[in-house]
Amino acid sequence: MGNRSEFALSLGKTAAQITADFAGVPGLGAAVELLCGIIQLCENVSSNRHAAIQLRDRCHTLLLAFNDSKTKMPTPKMTEALHSINDCLLDIQTKMDGWAKVSQIQGFTSQRKIKHDIDTRTRTLPRLNISSLQLVSHMEIHEWQHDFALNHKRDHDEVMEYLAEIQNSQQISSSAVAEDRETLRKMMGMMQQLLTENVEARDRTSAGLSNNLYDIQSKSRELLPDMNLRSGEVQRIGSHPVSGSAAMDIYEGLYLGREKVAIKIIRAVNSNEQSLRRFKREVQIWSEIWKIDHGEHVLPFYGFCQNDGPYPYMVSPWQKNGTLISYVKRNDSEVDYKRLIKGIAEGIQVLHSMSPPVVHGDIKGHNIVIGNYGRPLIADFGLSQIVEDITGIPFTQSRGVSDSYRWFAPEVCVGQGVLSVASDIYAFAMTVLEVLTHKQPFSNIKHTTEVVIRSARGENPLRPTDPRVFERGLDDDVWDLMNKCWALEPQSRPNISEVLALLS
Ligand SMILES: *[C@@H]1O[C@H](CO)[C@@H](O)[C@H](O)[C@H]1NC(C)=O
Ligand SMILES: *[C@@H]1O[C@H](CO)[C@@H](O)[C@H](O)[C@H]1NC(C)=O
Ligand SMILES: *[C@@H]1O[C@H](CO)[C@@H](O)[C@H](O)[C@H]1NC(C)=O
Ligand SMILES: *[C@@H]1O[C@H](CO)[C@@H](O)[C@H](O)[C@H]1NC(C)=O
Repeated sequence: MGNRSEFALSLGKTAAQITADFAGVPGLGAAVELLCGIIQLCENVSSNRHAAIQLRDRCHTLLLAFNDSKTKMPTPKMTEALHSINDCLLDIQTKMDGWAKVSQIQGFTSQRKIKHDIDTRTRTLPRLNISSLQLVSHMEIHEWQHDFALNHKRDHDEVMEYLAEIQNSQQISSSAVAEDRETLRKMMGMMQQLLTENVEARDRTSAGLSNNLYDIQSKSRELLPDMNLRSGEVQRIGSHPVSGSAAMDIYEGLYLGREKVAIKIIRAVNSNEQSLRRFKREVQIWSEIWKIDHGEHVLPFYGFCQNDGPYPYMVSPWQKNGTLISYVKRNDSEVDYKRLIKGIAEGIQVLHSMSPPVVHGDIKGHNIVIGNYGRPLIADFGLSQIVEDITGIPFTQSRGVSDSYRWFAPEVCVGQGVLSVASDIYAFAMTVLEVLTHKQPFSNIKHTTEVVIRSARGENPLRPTDPRVFERGLDDDVWDLMNKCWALEPQSRPNISEVLALLS
């Protein structure tokens, strides 16, 4: 046995004792050697520990039983039994070796598979007993199954306790981040699953799981694999919206007990099967964009929720600096307008470069927020499409959208009101005007209807004369670019790459 662990015990015996106990029994050498290997390896199994110990003990019992009865067996039968015992033990040792070698995180994520593997092997052992030795009664199998269920529960609870312990947060997140992306996401998914099991309780366990899951998310910059947030991942703070528009209410929320988020309730949509299907489709796009942008130019969605009130909502990180226009008004003298406008264009480029392109549909100062380092983030992309799909009404005709008519391209305001990348470009230039003037587009025209009529005729906003607007960056080149974006014919407008080229 050499340097093998002194601490490895089976049925109260060390490997050395077991070897001594079976010494002198002819033919058992290989089996005993295998058993001792299993016992040593079992020490290193961390996932499904209790079930593995049960399997180890079954191996030991089998050998004891065989030793007791072998003298009563005719030699050929005994040899045959010994063969199958050796085969069985070798298989278990090989498996045990694999279970002992997986990393802690892989152990967590493959807990179910390992359980299954242990289960099938623990089942084979007594059957082996019955066929060749007839030692194990049916009753005992039943008991064993009972024990197995208990052990599985213990294993499960142990993992849950570990993952829900706030003091383990550092260790869990570091080891999770060290794994490959797929394992990491599996791990996060598993923790979300554990949250679901605790959704009713809202106790220390769910608080700890949330906390540790949040640490993994922020360290890995990976969003939750299940964006259908139905297990208390988000909690609403306060019973009144803190802001919003005609189409949407914004509440404050707390995400995984740690981060302040904006809860965006779309009032035109009810929570039902249809909206669920639509959101499930949308989250694909959300994660694709996150993978490319990581929240640099486009404000991400952390997920959506359908089981908290009559209306579904979407969840985005809270931005302290607020929306674009309030930010530039507050910080006029410090703002680098050129950089800000370029940042907005880069955000649109992210959306338009997706395949198929993501049309924002409602680009304006109110839908752009300011993130870290004063960086603009395009918010609520795809919302127009969601509302349109679920309600069956063109977004441009849906409730509360009239606020946006000053930014909409002429072709959007009439007929079917089809949104396109070209209408985003038109709205982008209106947003540039808004940023540089601190006023909504066509600010000299009081009524929105009048704006719609004039823009349909191909009338563009008047060039601002305020010298401050010029100082902020509205020079001839920028004005020229804006007018290109306002071309009446959508096809005549530059695409976002061309806009960016002209901006630099
Ligand atoms: C194995 O059987 C022999 C008798 O055949 C006995 O002396 C020995 O103690 C048994 N070993 C164990 C570990 O039960
Ligand atoms: C168990 O793990 C320790 C530490 O990683 C290692 O040194 C030892 O060799 C392992 N034991 C077996 C039987 O693999
Ligand atoms: C707010 O904007 C300023 C730049 O004006 C930036 O330094 C800061 O990081 C931003 N704060 C937050 C919380 O986003
Ligand atoms: C923009 O238009 C140019 C041609 O003018 C084309 O080469 C480029 O691929 C287009 N970019 C996008 C994102 O459509």
